[in-house]
Amino acid sequence: MSEQIQTAFVPGLEGVVAVKTRLSNVDGKKGELIVAGFPIEELAPRASFEETLYLLWYDTLPNAEQLAELRESLASRRSLSRATLELLRAAASEKVPPMDALRMAAGTAGLGTNEDVPAEDEARPEALSLVARFSTIVAAYWRLLGGKEPVQPDPEVGHAATYLYMLFGEIPGEEFVRALETYLNTVADHGMNASTFTARVILSTRSDVVSAVVGAVGALKGPLHGGAPGPALDAVFEIGEAGRAKPYLREKLERGERLMGFGHRVYKVRDPRADTLAAASERLYTTDGDKALYELALEVEQASLSLLAEHKPGRNLETNVEFYTALLLHGLRLSTDLFTPTFAVGRVAGWTAHCFEQHDLDRLIRPQSAYVGARDRRWIPLEER
Ligand SMILES: CC(C)(COP(=O)(O)OP(=O)(O)OC[C@H]1O[C@@H](n2cnc3c(N)ncnc32)[C@H](O)[C@@H]1OP(=O)(O)O)[C@@H](O)C(=O)NCCC(=O)NCCS
Repeated sequence: MSEQIQTAFVPGLEGVVAVKTRLSNVDGKKGELIVAGFPIEELAPRASFEETLYLLWYDTLPNAEQLAELRESLASRRSLSRATLELLRAAASEKVPPMDALRMAAGTAGLGTNEDVPAEDEARPEALSLVARFSTIVAAYWRLLGGKEPVQPDPEVGHAATYLYMLFGEIPGEEFVRALETYLNTVADHGMNASTFTARVILSTRSDVVSAVVGAVGALKGPLHGGAPGPALDAVFEIGEAGRAKPYLREKLERGERLMGFGHRVYKVRDPRADTLAAASERLYTTDGDKALYELALEVEQASLSLLAEHKPGRNLETNVEFYTALLLHGLRLSTDLFTPTFAVGRVAGWTAHCFEQHDLDRLIRPQSAYVGARDRRWIPLEER
């Protein structure tokens, strides 16, 4: 039976509501992001990453005992299996880009997690392993790429601190940990973005959480989704010193180029995540960091906003999350190649939470397509073609 088109064709599914969620809400007109009931600016600078994870998974903040239990569960799963490590070594020997290595290794994250759990909780150990091991995979791969041995996770420190420890081999200062927690919380979930949708589509077939998250990593890798923060900082570096921002940016706009880190498909006012990360950047750079670079970035932001208002009047092109992501992660000494993988280390919290929600909904996501191909063709034998 041929498919009946029951609804209008909506390219890119823009404006189509496919699922109900309690996890997060993006209001592009108000410039508001709510994560499990909290405005992002209330949650992100205060919560530890583990608290945000618990909140997304269980819809409530953990008490001290629940938090300790979650931290312990993550710590006990953080070490990589031998198979994952071998895979990462093979990938590093071929200089595979970090997001591809993460995608490959994420598929092995379930190894060694066959615990006895009630059927309704089957997905939790896998999800815990994914969240716990994402940071280990990214950090271990980064070191292998640089010709260094991976650093074993430290079970005594929290998720964000362990990630920095595994990257750099030193227990980070408090202000570094706070800045990274704020970043991971800020990007943990964001409505029905492409990677989250991908995860939900895969889970809706009653497939498993690991498969859903591997698919999500593939979606996040694309430059239209998570692959863009690096270039936002390049302009700041190219400008190099105070007073040069305006002419440099004006020239870019006159050449028809876009200013990276500005404008957004959904937010038509300032992206609330930019504010949260701007405050975190200010704290980080004023306590420990390249203050001159920070001040130059602020000058670049102001110059960009005033030129964009002049160049594209009425478009409301505001600072987006990428601009301050780049500044904050650079302040944490992360190379630009680590920006998107670090985004994944935070977003895996949202992906797994959406998997649980989709599991409970148990409804196959299966849209329709509008057929625009030929009809009534007749078979032509090979020798006559
Ligand atoms: C994010 C982005 C793709 C959103 O695109 P969008 O909602 O489709 O916006 P549009 O492309 O419709 O933009 C509207 C107008 O503003 C212009 N514009 C949008 N963002 C711009 C930017 N950063 N610099 C210069 N001009 C920009 C567009 O060229 C367009 O002009 P036109 O109508 O004269 O062609 C776009 O703003 C962009 O490319 N930003 C820079 C890249 C970036 O920071 N990406 C990370 C996003 S989180």
